Amino acid sequence: MNTALKTSEAMSGDELFGSNAFARLDESDDGVFYSRDRFVQHLDSTALATVEDLIGKLVIEERPAILDLMAGWDSHLPASIKPSRVAGLGLNENELKKNTALTEYVIHDLNRDPLLPFADASFDAVINTVSVDYMTRPVDVFREVGRILKPGGLFLVVFSSRMFPQKATQVWRQSGEKERIILVEEFFRYSQLFANPEVFISKGRPRPVEDKYARLGIPSDPIYAVYADRKDANGERKRRPQVTSDHGSPLPAETLKERTAAVKETLRCPHCGEPMRKWEVPNTPFTTWENEFMYICFNDTCSYLLRGWEVMNKQGNRGLSYRLMYDPLRDRCMPVPIPSLDALKDGIVG
Ligand SMILES: C[S@@+](CC[C@H](N)C(=O)[O-])C[C@H]1O[C@@H](n2cnc3c(N)ncnc32)[C@H](O)[C@@H]1O
Repeated sequence: MNTALKTSEAMSGDELFGSNAFARLDESDDGVFYSRDRFVQHLDSTALATVEDLIGKLVIEERPAILDLMAGWDSHLPASIKPSRVAGLGLNENELKKNTALTEYVIHDLNRDPLLPFADASFDAVINTVSVDYMTRPVDVFREVGRILKPGGLFLVVFSSRMFPQKATQVWRQSGEKERIILVEEFFRYSQLFANPEVFISKGRPRPVEDKYARLGIPSDPIYAVYADRKDANGERKRRPQVTSDHGSPLPAETLKERTAAVKETLRCPHCGEPMRKWEVPNTPFTTWENEFMYICFNDTCSYLLRGWEVMNKQGNRGLSYRLMYDPLRDRCMPVPIPSLDALKDGIVG
């Protein structure tokens, strides 16, 4: 079939997002990877409170039936919500059993089978927290979420910057924060079952005082949410309250100084607070570094990188920027020039 004539319903993920977009570094059985219990929080407590607050504001239905899609041991539901039903779908039975918010659970691998084991129009809200990065067939799953939601029901997708990189899809790993937001908006749009998605961002907030990174000035984990209501027959929308994004404030010079001094200890970029990635120094006659590994900030929205495009342009080096690199042998940070966002990424080893 001519692709131009196909509807997005008939198009595969590769056709919509490019070949290998949903490939993963670890293609082994997800059930095996998640069989290890992880009774940890995937976000710091400030970020978790933001997620709870957001859910509390957006789920406005009385006694809602909720599906926690890709659930673990905590569904982050605030006490203000009094659900009639909370189903959890995930891969780790011990975690789901320990989740006190759930009234039922099902073990189901969405990447094997995106069809959800629930009846049409049976939920008021579906919540997916810090897990969309692992969906290899997201448009099929979003379409299924549309099927099981009641007309006007809410699908709330929350994500942050942390992930299990080996299980995250290639397109997710290679995207920056803005691209990830656009990607999730596209999943909603291609499914064709939702009203226009809305976006909420909270970032740059201080970490909780008890957090081990708080004294280094590293901000709380960013929270991004993309959400939309299931279209209903009349095209009517429920009036969910407006939620206001919080983009944080610019980094004070003092904080930058402290963070730079702490790179050795934290291996986080002083400019954006993101973990730096272990990068294998290529074995070519042109590199003079004796190290086997460096650490580089690969955050595509890091302020250091963003400023770099402008600085290099002013110096006549059009189309170049630099990423921040930490040399563990000499314990110092330096810029490493890049001609594109993809440059150097194939050397990432950790
Ligand atoms: C980072 S954890 C997030 C857990 C939980 N949503 C939270 O907010 O704490 C990712 C979750 O996605 C689930 N998951 C990963 N791959 C999955 C798949 N292929 N099918 C269904 N669930 C999956 C795992 O069981 C795991 O609980």
